[in-house]
Amino acid sequence: MEFHAFKSFGEMSAAAALAVAGTLREKPDCVLGLATGSSPVGTYDELVRMHHEEGLSFARCTTVNLDEYLGLAGTHPQSYRFFMEKHLFSRVDVRRDATFVPDGTAADPAAECAAYDARLARLGGTDLQLLGIGPDGHVGFNEPDDVFTPQTHVVDLAPSTIEANSRFFASETDVPRKAITMGMKGILLARKIVLVASGAAKRAKIDAAFSGPVTPRLPASILQLHRDVTVFWSET
Ligand code: F6R
Repeated sequence: MEFHAFKSFGEMSAAAALAVAGTLREKPDCVLGLATGSSPVGTYDELVRMHHEEGLSFARCTTVNLDEYLGLAGTHPQSYRFFMEKHLFSRVDVRRDATFVPDGTAADPAAECAAYDARLARLGGTDLQLLGIGPDGHVGFNEPDDVFTPQTHVVDLAPSTIEANSRFFASETDVPRKAITMGMKGILLARKIVLVASGAAKRAKIDAAFSGPVTPRLPASILQLHRDVTVFWSET
């Protein structure tokens, strides 16, 4: 694992964006695995800047997101499809039919999960997977558990995740209790993993994940098994 520490969120985001842009420039038809949440927002802003000022193009890439709340349509302002539209897709030249986010309103969520994995397999995994890390060490929405779940699956969100994500909703009771998340196999299929995080609490989780045992109780610890992980962390 490579670890890069920065003073500010802006510097951290610029460095992470350079890594993503590197993959896009090397392989314009790459598959990008994308994340939502506060951590990658600056990375997306910087990628948008590069698109406008440096001609960085997303026109030939495919994007596959990590997760989506179960029950939220893509038009819901707190859905992850909506987030991606707002922070990236509507601001660059990506083809909408090449952007994939799990469908939170699928009539058969299990079938949606299976289809998501089948698509990921057809794509050959992602060339680069962008990740954040949750307060409980989750990646995607793979919450602490007795086992690692390889496949895309429906998950019960941990109380700490519901609480952490309530800042985006009117109240904690509005936060969906379940989500669809890419599983650990999908995440580890990535050729390169870039994890972005800020603040002292995330730093402690990252340290524990990469220096302690690999355990499903700290889901990010499985990233120790991947050969190309770069962590970009900032103090603020
Ligand atoms: C989001 C996701 C989550 C977040 C994590 C950190 O797609 O998969 O694992 O990356 O909850 O969220 P923030 O960055 O908001 O602290």
